[in-house]
Amino acid sequence: MMTSVQQNFEHQPVLLDETLEALNIKKDGCYVDGTFGRGGHSRAILARLGEQGRLLAFDKDPQAIIQAQQLAANDPRVTVRHGSFTHLQQVVKELGWDGQVDGVFLDLGVSSPQLDDAERGFSFRLDGPLDMRMNPEQGISAAQWLASADEKEIMQVLFDYGEERFARRIARAIVEARQQQPINTTKQLASIVAAANPSHEKGKNPATRSFQAIRIFINQELEDLKECLSQAVDILAPGGRLVVISFHSLEDRIVKRFMREQSKGDHFPPDLPVRHVELKQKMKIVGKAIKAKKNELDNNPRARSAVLRVAEKQ
Ligand SMILES: C[S@@+](CC[C@H](N)C(=O)[O-])C[C@H]1O[C@@H](n2cnc3c(N)ncnc32)[C@H](O)[C@@H]1O
Repeated sequence: MMTSVQQNFEHQPVLLDETLEALNIKKDGCYVDGTFGRGGHSRAILARLGEQGRLLAFDKDPQAIIQAQQLAANDPRVTVRHGSFTHLQQVVKELGWDGQVDGVFLDLGVSSPQLDDAERGFSFRLDGPLDMRMNPEQGISAAQWLASADEKEIMQVLFDYGEERFARRIARAIVEARQQQPINTTKQLASIVAAANPSHEKGKNPATRSFQAIRIFINQELEDLKECLSQAVDILAPGGRLVVISFHSLEDRIVKRFMREQSKGDHFPPDLPVRHVELKQKMKIVGKAIKAKKNELDNNPRARSAVLRVAEKQ
């Protein structure tokens, strides 16, 4: 039998050409891929780098890191760190790249291999242990959290991170169900949520929002994103690019607001006459939000919700 490490789950990179263009790659530049996954974007960046170019790759997921290390073993330009991209600034300092990074790239959320492996517990379509941790060696699983969290906390998570209208009902149903037996599998949770969800959006599984919410909470996805964005501004070289692909409105809102704030510069009282140069803008927004074109959408349904935003360090 194959273990999940041996199984060859694939991930098709989204908005690949758009990402490469947005990063404006210099042959001898230093780049960071904060979300290596299966390395689709990293490999394409490397293909554009010369011998002096450098790539630093992060991922929380041990299986993604195995692949990144295989790549690094055959390519001296690659450095790999297992862990959150919130270690960006610390690792960049260790490497002596502080203020010299030409591009930071994030392709947020989960990869297809994570979703398609029932053992990881991310999918309501497959039955598996209710885990949902990107790094199963760290923190608590979704099952552990659902066993101990109180109803109000569960409701808040479903509402805040899933924008679930029926958060209250679903939280109550979860608490009632766990009194009968522990909720240990994805299918158990999916059916409890479906039964408590009186009307769900067309074409969407009734558990979509709840699974998204619990996953975001368990992996601290939004907190990590905010932390990484603020570090990225400090470590980029002037002209360096920050390129982020988001997959849902909560992430995209954070990225959009962050880039907008950085491009406004320091705050002055509204009636104070201030010259443009005095604003000290940290970043400039580059172009508009980019979405996948029809030919990509036809070949990769994951690209449907992807939004890419770009900003440049001033
Ligand atoms: C959408 S996939 C990236 C796919 C990749 N671009 C490719 O082409 O193969 C997102 C990856 O980011 C990782 N990830 C998500 N949040 C992370 C974080 N805070 N720190 C490090 N890795 C993270 C996930 O484990 C997952 O492997």
